[in-house]
Amino acid sequence: MKVIPIHPAAAVPVPASEPSSGNDPDGLLHDRRGRSVRDLRISVTDRCNFRCIYCMPRSVFGDDYPFLARSDLLSFEEITRIAQRFAARGVRKIRITGGEPLLRKHVENLIEQLARIPDIELTLTTNGVLLPRMARRLRDAGLDRVTVSLDAIDDATFRRMNDADFPVASVLEGIEAASAAGLGPVKVNMVVKRGTNDAGVLDMARHFRGSGHIVRFIEFMDVGSSNGWKMDEVVPSREIIERIGAEYPLDPIDPHYVGEVAERWRYRDGSGEIGVISSVTQAFCATCTRIRLSTEGKLYTCLFAQQGYDLRALLRGGATDGALDDAIAHVWRGRDDRYSEIRSANTAGQRRIEMSYIGG
Ligand code: GTP
Ligand code: 5AD
Ligand code: SF4
Ligand code: SF4
Repeated sequence: MKVIPIHPAAAVPVPASEPSSGNDPDGLLHDRRGRSVRDLRISVTDRCNFRCIYCMPRSVFGDDYPFLARSDLLSFEEITRIAQRFAARGVRKIRITGGEPLLRKHVENLIEQLARIPDIELTLTTNGVLLPRMARRLRDAGLDRVTVSLDAIDDATFRRMNDADFPVASVLEGIEAASAAGLGPVKVNMVVKRGTNDAGVLDMARHFRGSGHIVRFIEFMDVGSSNGWKMDEVVPSREIIERIGAEYPLDPIDPHYVGEVAERWRYRDGSGEIGVISSVTQAFCATCTRIRLSTEGKLYTCLFAQQGYDLRALLRGGATDGALDDAIAHVWRGRDDRYSEIRSANTAGQRRIEMSYIGG
């Protein structure tokens, strides 16, 4: 049984232990730090109609950028087969990501296939502008919820950040369409970058207060190698909570589940909740149960991974379900990632995969 690591070109050792198709005593797979695999995030395209400055800067993702060719992409059948294998090993949540996943042709057909897997919560992260057209179809296909990215409620700031001239209104329409189609409560993700959009944090909170939608403020991360990340552009979540709490008193609330990425807070006056995601100042690697499948079928055990495992080669080489199960077990059991906990000067120069490729 061989799993071939191929990203980037440099070879990395394949986990050497003997594969096993049995689960651990609790029925789950465990990595070297005792974490089980529960969430599968599937990227369905590396393309996007936005050029967010912190994710796909135009200087890198220009007109001549070599996006993946169609033949490189996993088919919906291939994706579903991998998802089924993961579900058999304990995955209970699947998130469709991109790039912008709604750009993948007939993505609703994939949703329909994935929705047939029992006991899975099926969600999708989008920039929202295609939701007015697609929300109903996605819901009918079996999607449970959506998360929409929106980095400012101020139009000029938002246009500057998406760098493709999309207005705030186009995203707000998407959020409402999702909500009307039954894809709510909608989570709204705002990546906060000091000096770029942090002045709008309170306006963002104010806009969505009482709407039933949940805004999550995300610390700007050093994903990929092209977004020019600097520590002094990170606004710590503590500061966000202080700023909002000074205007609208907040109380902390318990997580929905162990390992929830967002820390939850509710408005004392009962007008809803917000979340903060502190991947830089309070890393949550210790409870990280996520694995990522790229558009072309490589498996990544961390958002900051430097190599992926080529499942597509296995699939297209005629692997049986048992062989796929072994590959998955191999990769997960060998997993030792905890990048956000060990981020330092030593990790700063590493070449990493881009967020638009691996998916948020
Ligand atoms: P739900 O609670 O099911 O809505 O999902 P979630 O909390 O996992 O949220 P979502 O998938 O929308 O992730 C929100 C943001 O958190 C992402 O866009 C990333 O910025 C960050 N994030 C999510 N997963 C990870 C992770 O594994 N590592 C790190 N460092 N950041 C993550
Ligand atoms: N830091 C934090 N979040 C990011 N996202 C993309 N790039 C970054 C980054 N550098 C988020 C987007 C979206 C999700 C797909 O990932 O805002 O919500
Ligand atoms: Fe596209 Fe989302 Fe990246 Fe923005 S953050 S460029 S919307 S994939
Ligand atoms: Fe998980 Fe890696 Fe993110 Fe840590 S940095 S939470 S190990 S994906």
